[in-house]
Amino acid sequence: MPHKKAQSWFDQHPNRLDRKSQEEAIDLVSFSFNGNPVVGRKGESIAASLIAAGIRNFRQDRVGENRGIYCGMGTCFECLVHIDGSPSQRACLTPVEKDMDIRTQTYAPSVGPRNDQMRPNFHPTVSPPRRTALLIIGAGPGGLASAISAARSGVNVTVVDERTMPGGQYFKQPAAASESSDKSAFDQQSLQGRALIETARNLGVEILGKTTVWNAVENSDGFDLHVS
Ligand code: FES
Repeated sequence: MPHKKAQSWFDQHPNRLDRKSQEEAIDLVSFSFNGNPVVGRKGESIAASLIAAGIRNFRQDRVGENRGIYCGMGTCFECLVHIDGSPSQRACLTPVEKDMDIRTQTYAPSVGPRNDQMRPNFHPTVSPPRRTALLIIGAGPGGLASAISAARSGVNVTVVDERTMPGGQYFKQPAAASESSDKSAFDQQSLQGRALIETARNLGVEILGKTTVWNAVENSDGFDLHVS
């Protein structure tokens, strides 16, 4: 009987764009979906890992139909899943982590665990107030360009975004794992975004990722922010 050649990790994940060898598939992250093992790459979203593994049905709506990723940018809420028992988490915005227990969400899920029982990422701890002269919500092209203009005029700027990385949908940055393994992941558009992000940072713009603003109180010299 002919010996069957072992499949590489990328052979098992045909939806991946990069075709690097298994040896170069660094920073792999093992987690489970409905109890079945799945492997993603560090820095990418849960949705990206699931799609790459051929899993498209993330939740069920109230008539039992399957739903999955739609906008891919955190606005449609079609990609909701349970993560470690916490319901209604957006798979497209949540970075995949080792040993996560991801499960399909059905309509009207239970409330889930108490805050202090959640994985730290899902425990919204509001930090002490921080002050800024100009607060920009959203680190997409518009937010970054505005921040750069203001910073060049000497204004102290803070840009807040709920995504892990700045760039928004238009200048979306590849997963961190691609930095070291696959330079082709940086197409012209993401390179333009990277340049914009670097310009903002070099001008001293503070960019807060994975951050939600709960309260912004205006005062005489700017805003006091309460973020988590
Ligand atoms: S796919 Fe739209 S919020 Fe995740």
